[in-house]
Amino acid sequence: MGKTGNRVECWDVVVAGTGLAGLYTALMLAKTGRSILLLAKTSADESNTNQAQAGIAASVSSHDSPRLHMEDTMLAGAGLCDPMAVTSLVEAGPQGIDSLVDLGVEFDQTEDGPALTQEGAHSRRRVLHAGDATGYVIRRALMANLSKWENITLRDYTNVVSLIKDDQGCCGLACVDQQGPIVYYSSAVVLASGGGCQIYKQTTNPDVATGDGIAIGYRAGVAVRDMEFIQFHPTVLCLADVPRFLISEAARGEGALLYSSDHRRFMPDYHPLAELAPRDVVARAIVQEMERTGAKHVWLDFNNVSGDIAKRFPTIVQKCREYGIDLLKDPVPVAPAAHYFIGGIVTDQQGRTSLPGLYACGEATCTGIHGANRLASNSLLEALVIGQRIADIISEQKPVEIREIPWDWNFEQEKDWHDVRSQLQQIMWENVGLKRDKSGLEQALSAIQSLDCQLPQGLYQNRKTMETVNMLLVARLVAKGALLRQESRGVHYRTDYPAPSDHQLGHWVLSLDGHGFYPVEEGEPHV
Ligand code: SIN
Repeated sequence: MGKTGNRVECWDVVVAGTGLAGLYTALMLAKTGRSILLLAKTSADESNTNQAQAGIAASVSSHDSPRLHMEDTMLAGAGLCDPMAVTSLVEAGPQGIDSLVDLGVEFDQTEDGPALTQEGAHSRRRVLHAGDATGYVIRRALMANLSKWENITLRDYTNVVSLIKDDQGCCGLACVDQQGPIVYYSSAVVLASGGGCQIYKQTTNPDVATGDGIAIGYRAGVAVRDMEFIQFHPTVLCLADVPRFLISEAARGEGALLYSSDHRRFMPDYHPLAELAPRDVVARAIVQEMERTGAKHVWLDFNNVSGDIAKRFPTIVQKCREYGIDLLKDPVPVAPAAHYFIGGIVTDQQGRTSLPGLYACGEATCTGIHGANRLASNSLLEALVIGQRIADIISEQKPVEIREIPWDWNFEQEKDWHDVRSQLQQIMWENVGLKRDKSGLEQALSAIQSLDCQLPQGLYQNRKTMETVNMLLVARLVAKGALLRQESRGVHYRTDYPAPSDHQLGHWVLSLDGHGFYPVEEGEPHV
């Protein structure tokens, strides 16, 4: 406890996060000449964007239209998408892609234009990609652009521990970097710090995905919503003692088929779109088959994929080879894992939160675009479109005076975070996973409360401890949202309420003031 140091800096805009959302927002803002500080929690290349395989959805072909893209997004979203938000997203899609190409992103091409792949619940091939390393290629191009702007400063290994606010709104961020605590005052703060699927034992997400932005925003009084909607990716490499690795949905888009351990192609029994059914349907079908056969996984077979598999999926081929699987010959053992936070900080379509001066974009947010089930490859597009709007809105404002209000560092004493984190991940996986019920959710909430006593809410200098505190908070919000939603809809499945309910057609919003339900017919619960 106590005051620590007094390193202080002032910036026009501070952006936390170096996935697509943060990088793109910073680049779009750079043209305004404002001084921009871009913060990465660890190395700037660690993000979900960097690992995104399949691609980015946009209606760029003559066989497609924003209208069709909208219809697919709304259908996947199971009644909870905001139609205005979706319309404006899909209409902005093609222009967003042009902007990435202008920034040097090289998507795969055919003689007729961009190569487009298929993913679940898309009625058209509309996913632009760069092999199976689309996120990596996008990040690399955006990072290369950063150095062209003298007014952007990138600082890595900087952990944001708190928003700083006064009676006018957000006025900065309290951080800890490798030298210790530092305060950044700024008239505009953008949280682009990603989702938090690390709260689960099995996840496709990198270690950094601990929901920090959501936790920091919530603690500062900003509302979150739809937290119960966690998307589980159906096909994740499942080998004992090997980290989970995504096997892109694009593999099924190009023809890969799912088989149970007793060699039955099961997806046609579950949905007319078979392997290309919405992601939640495929994930639950896989779990059901695993339960039926007692196996720990099902098989994904690439035999039916046409074309040059090694060229189309080089990263996946290589990763499987490292583990002794030749996917040109062998099927791959796969099982679902936590993949994407649909819920998060409530923002409007300009990325504004309820706290003046605080903006947010990307997976840390809930814009209403994804409803109860995100359509594959819509997330990079959302980050791009909202990032651009945040840059526009900040550019239109006259530079606001930076307010340096006194900030006291009140750090808690460091605690052992390691066991707390692994217990949390186990509890969330067992009780707040693909299948939920009242008793499991109550057990999870009470276990999280006990873990909270071991690691009380507060500020910690050690990154891992601070992350674990954030994970406990975010996990509590997910479990609470899941308990409140007494129905099954989209990615949220309750065995005790297995059908959707008309009474639950709306959003659960959670904040420090409590929780409330906002039916869709009353309009979106905007900020
Ligand atoms: C994938 O490559 O299957 C992931 C795509 C996504 O989550 O949008």
